Amino acid sequence: MDDQQAPVVFVVLGPPGAGKGTQSGMLASLFRIPHISVGNLLRSCVQDKSEARLRLRRMMELGSLVPDTLVLDVLAARVSEPDCARGLILDGFPRTLRQAGLLERGLLKSPLYSTNAREKLVAVHLRVQPSTIVGRLSGRRICSRCGATYHLETQPPRVSGECDLDGSALTIREDDRKATVLERLRIYQQETAPILSHYAGKTSLLEVDGEQPKENIAREIVTAIQSMLRISVAGARNAQSMVENNP
Ligand code: AP5
Repeated sequence: MDDQQAPVVFVVLGPPGAGKGTQSGMLASLFRIPHISVGNLLRSCVQDKSEARLRLRRMMELGSLVPDTLVLDVLAARVSEPDCARGLILDGFPRTLRQAGLLERGLLKSPLYSTNAREKLVAVHLRVQPSTIVGRLSGRRICSRCGATYHLETQPPRVSGECDLDGSALTIREDDRKATVLERLRIYQQETAPILSHYAGKTSLLEVDGEQPKENIAREIVTAIQSMLRISVAGARNAQSMVENNP
């Protein structure tokens, strides 16, 4: 992103397993702005063994949303870090209309943004069928150390069961068990899906077919963002050519 532009906040929306983390990671390296995964922030935060944290961890393992106070604490701390000054990609926030309202009312009014124009919000919705989701989440494996994501069929590690980046063991996320995935889908429909019509009337909402190969999705998003924001930024041109050169 261009240093002179108001920061752009990308909100990546979609059901569990839609590819939010995958696309956010690709876009973050293409646009050179941070990918903030609220799920990852929360998973690190509930590692400590206090009774309160264990309760929250259990909520996540069962697929429930955790209380806003915790979400807002971890998010506010992360957004105030210097690398967020030029924009950021939010993966997993907002998840309710209330959280969407908090975001619009200035949740990100970080001191980092105070000398810039108000940040611009662009929402990207990855549309994926429930049957695809179950397949993606049952095949997902996560590095136990760095959190890198794999899929047994579509993105296997070079050595079975080991992370390409650090060689650590790959694990199954507790909330990827089938019954929990169905519960997460139910919560998504009830709590998160209404945000889409809310955004459709208010902000730039980009609808993307999330069933495509991940490189095609990234290419479609970059092209749409360029025309949506009339990005004069070198970052977007670089992003486009990087996607073109890495099919
Ligand atoms: P979170 O970690 O955010 O989980 P989620 O939203 O359910 O999303 P996932 O991480 O499961 O999937 P994804 O869409 O990122 O897909 P991915 O790219 O990994 O949140 C976990 C929990 O934290 C919540 O349940 C809640 O408890 C709590 N929480 C988080 N935010 C909260 C909030 N705001 N408020 C309250 N509570 C909150 O891809 C999935 C698999 O598919 C991978 O294996 C990948 O390799 C593969 N894949 C990806 N794209 C493709 C493709 N195009 N083609 C083929 N395979 C693909």
